[in-house]
Amino acid sequence: MNTEKKLLLNELYEPYQHCTNCPLGTLGRTNIVFGEGDTNAKIMFIGEGPGQQEDEQGRPFIGRSGQLLTRVLETAGLKRSDVFITNIVKCRPPKNRKPFPNESKTCKQLLLLKQIGIIKPQVICTLGAAALEGLLEQPIRITQVRGRPIELGKITIIPTYHPAYILRNAKELPQLLKDIMLAIRHTK
Ligand code: URA
Repeated sequence: MNTEKKLLLNELYEPYQHCTNCPLGTLGRTNIVFGEGDTNAKIMFIGEGPGQQEDEQGRPFIGRSGQLLTRVLETAGLKRSDVFITNIVKCRPPKNRKPFPNESKTCKQLLLLKQIGIIKPQVICTLGAAALEGLLEQPIRITQVRGRPIELGKITIIPTYHPAYILRNAKELPQLLKDIMLAIRHTK
């Protein structure tokens, strides 16, 4: 089962290694950051888009916000390797700007929705406003929606803060932990 999912994910990834289907493919990207983790994960984390280190190494959430995410996961009793981590857009936006709606939509349709279809997580934890906006294609206010489950077919979405926001607002750290623990409670 897991091997089959790995094969399907590899098949999905390969044709897009040099993707230019949206402007981000021609704006200085080094690597596509496809995502990593347990292909059978019950929880999938979706961030906004790769930053500099992620772009250089082709891995999601390995910079400062990723290190914070890893620590919060461990506090909640999960290892990084227990979950699948990816982003709405797989290419780094210039100067880490927010992805434009056409970029998020293109990448979502070509890759993210297919990743979700293969992995079949029970819960998706969106990190920050841009991730949820990209997924739902509508503007949201993260302070209003965080910690409130959204049912989307068989999947429960738990919106929470982006770890980069927590690095700037440490007092919100308990909320991020609480939301991740809520995501865990929504798994069977
Ligand atoms: N921020 C994100 O949204 N994603 C990453 O992979 C890294 C930082």
